[in-house]
Amino acid sequence: MNQAVRIAHGVTVEIASVGKTFQARHPALLPTDLTIPAGEILVLLGPSGCGKTTLLRLIAGLEQPDPGGSIRFDQEDVTGTLIEHRQVGMVFQSYALFPNMTVAENVGYGLKVRGVTKCKRQVEVERLLAMVGLTEFAARRVDRISGGQRQRVALARALAIRPRVLLLDEPLAALDASLREHLRVEIAALLRAFRITAVYVTHDQAEAMAIGDRIAVMSRGRIVQIDTPEVVYQRPATRFAAQFVGVMNRVDGCVRGGRLSLPSGSLEIGGSDRDTALWFRPESVRVIGAENAGLVGTVIGSTFFGATRRLTVVIGAEKPILIDAPATLGVANGDRIGLSIERSAVLELPEDTV
Ligand SMILES: Nc1ncnc2c1ncn2[C@@H]1O[C@H](COP(=O)(O)OP(=O)(O)OP(=O)(O)O)[C@@H](O)[C@H]1O
Ligand SMILES: [Mg+2]
Repeated sequence: MNQAVRIAHGVTVEIASVGKTFQARHPALLPTDLTIPAGEILVLLGPSGCGKTTLLRLIAGLEQPDPGGSIRFDQEDVTGTLIEHRQVGMVFQSYALFPNMTVAENVGYGLKVRGVTKCKRQVEVERLLAMVGLTEFAARRVDRISGGQRQRVALARALAIRPRVLLLDEPLAALDASLREHLRVEIAALLRAFRITAVYVTHDQAEAMAIGDRIAVMSRGRIVQIDTPEVVYQRPATRFAAQFVGVMNRVDGCVRGGRLSLPSGSLEIGGSDRDTALWFRPESVRVIGAENAGLVGTVIGSTFFGATRRLTVVIGAEKPILIDAPATLGVANGDRIGLSIERSAVLELPEDTV
């Protein structure tokens, strides 16, 4: 997979007021503005039905936006351009390979229909197969290779036409967890080597963080936050984004004199008196001795994760909280532990408006 690659620069994709309404009362995509700089891998992340595939199909030219929307590739307006003239590559969950063709024939198919000579095709296909690590499978029929290998054939086939934008719709969803984890690293490396502009749809947040330069978190037909994986994780813009990406604790209460009081202690929060909800991640909590802790809790559950141990702890809030402690920490159900929470990691998040 690490052969020298002829660089095919991607285009900048500019989406302006692009919406899609299939049914008047529930637009699949509300009018959306979005610029994807050339070479960026943008991940669309969100729950089922939020509009990810619709946005991808609009970029591909498989759907037309509602009136008023426009899509540009670099300076070129492609809004009315048919998919076959947009020069986009697509990779789907189902791969959509030709089962009776060999690996090489599948990869070369797009070049063949574009009239590329057999000789040139062969060179190109060999180069692509080397890149995705499938040289030895060139002559094998695609129905006689594994799921992960098929996925790489689909990727090589999409890259063969030197797409201006590569669109991937849950390309790893059909694979088992360990293969998925392995391939997402490989795909990210390949896309970066190509410096191709890519839009990658997933509803797996770990995959989104591993692959994306930026992540667009979507909910109900709109992008609720778009930023680097780090910012989306550490500074989610809304409650929805906070809960969809990673695990978040929520503790409700009232702040008086800068402290949030709970039955089992209090938390230094600062700011004016208010009723609020505090949000923090399991890894932002540190387990300390119970003696002098401002906040104590009782362990009611513990899950071993290898490097860490996730504790379920009752602190007298509405719900128990989750804490990631070092796996070496010796705690048992019923133990009382002291808790300290990094103040900078405690967020107060605006309610979602939709
Ligand atoms: N051709 C269509 N006709 C009518 N409604 C559609 C059509 N395509 C999509 N929709 C609706 O638009 C909304 C968004 O669909 P979309 O396929 O974009 O979701 P998604 O985010 O890709 O979901 P998933 O994760 O399940 O693939 C859904 O409510 C869906 O039912
Ligand atoms: Mg979809």
